[in-house]
Amino acid sequence: MNSAGLVTASYIAATILFILALGGLSNQETARRGNWYGIIGMTLALAATILGVVTQHYTLLIVMLLVGGSIGLVLARRVQMTQMPELVAILHSLVGLAAVLVGFANFMDHSTVLTGAEATIHDIETYLGILIGAVTFSGSVIAFGKLSGRIGGKPLLLPARHVLNLVLLIGAIWLCREFVQQSAMGGGIWPLVLMTLIALAFGVHMVMAIGGADMPVVVSMLNSYSGWAASATGFMLSNDLLIVTGALVGSSGAILSYIMCRAMNRKFLAVIAGGFGTGGGTTAAGGEIEGEVVPIQSDEVAELLANAKEVMIVPGYGMAVAQAQHTVYEITKVLREKGVNVRFGIHPVAGRMPGHMNVLLAEAKVPYDIVFEMDEINEDFPDVDVSVVIGANDIVNPSAQEDPEGPIAGMPVLEVWKGNTTIVLKRSMATGYAGVENPLFYKDNTRMLFGDAKDTLDAVLKAL
Ligand code: TAP
Repeated sequence: MNSAGLVTASYIAATILFILALGGLSNQETARRGNWYGIIGMTLALAATILGVVTQHYTLLIVMLLVGGSIGLVLARRVQMTQMPELVAILHSLVGLAAVLVGFANFMDHSTVLTGAEATIHDIETYLGILIGAVTFSGSVIAFGKLSGRIGGKPLLLPARHVLNLVLLIGAIWLCREFVQQSAMGGGIWPLVLMTLIALAFGVHMVMAIGGADMPVVVSMLNSYSGWAASATGFMLSNDLLIVTGALVGSSGAILSYIMCRAMNRKFLAVIAGGFGTGGGTTAAGGEIEGEVVPIQSDEVAELLANAKEVMIVPGYGMAVAQAQHTVYEITKVLREKGVNVRFGIHPVAGRMPGHMNVLLAEAKVPYDIVFEMDEINEDFPDVDVSVVIGANDIVNPSAQEDPEGPIAGMPVLEVWKGNTTIVLKRSMATGYAGVENPLFYKDNTRMLFGDAKDTLDAVLKAL
């Protein structure tokens, strides 16, 4: 087989491995295998490209690979699980930036001369690659800022923002026409630069308009955009593997966004258009909530749990912060040995990334068959004796159902308050990610166990 044939064969193998990786990652039990498929596929793809496609500038290539690889390694080692969404967002921004840079480099490279329809198609590919890349880049940088708390979570709502978006879109289409026409006569750089600036502004505006509670959907949507940017770059460079891989990322990101929208009761199209989740911004203010906050101590919690028949554990972001999953597992083991039926209820956006809680529970070796998704167990709460909410807030907030004006209105929540007793573990009365007060804490059947979840749960375990 000649070298081109070998490259094609490797690309097909890599594509198959990427598809197997996605399949594997969709289930906790096969996720590890899925990861390996991905790693092998990417190694194969890199090797085939470096040895078969690249023909010169090897020193530069190796130096850059070493620099990029080292930065990636340090970042991956340092990042805390709770900072994962920020890391993902900033990595998406790099995909977007790469698409923009490759697009400009490709435009300025005159080594292959195309004419007629071929030239027009190539110009449109370049234009789209840069456009999607620039939106992904600036949108991801803002998402990173919001997720890491460098930019406030409050949505920025410019007057007539939808009209503004429409004007930007029409401007981008008009500039595409200009670009293709001017490019045919050897020019075109100005429409391209102008469009890049518009796309950058659009990316910033789109993500700035989104409220904190809706950020998870935005991250997965930007993931999808980054895939389409890579795919457009693949067309630009006539690289089949990049086209396919980009499309895989683009479509899986879009599917994930759709699933998350459904889980949060948001409209998918409204998300794509940007500026959603802004529902007026009123929150049930602390003073308006009726009821009293009743604290409880760890030994009382242990007693309640030991005497219960049905226990539901609802973990959230605070469990990740406290790294309490191992203690949670120990408590579960003790209770199960006592004959208590312990189950876990996982909200689709609990924590700070999809599957966050499942990863932590799997790490602590909690058996999969007692971990349930929200839809599977939400109707069971009336039969639950004790629900233990560990560092979760927004995902158990009844105001999502009761306050139609609130920022999380309509978002499905775990209905813990319908159980007999609810114990909420958190450090203070502070609000969660969406910044909304939580009436659950004031309900008659709720008890608050204040303190770091790891410390309080260690005490519960000791008492048990
Ligand atoms: P949150 O609503 O953020 O609530 C977490 C709670 O944990 C806080 O109220 C905090 O209260 C408590 N906490 C923090 N550290 C703690 C510790 N060491 N010990 C005990 N408690 C601690 O989390 P959630 O209920 O999991 O909801 C997730 C939110 O994040 C949703 O609004 C969701 O939209 C958003 N979000 C989700 C994702 C994905 S994809 N999952 C991505 C980005 C954003 P104290 O400060 O009083 O302790």
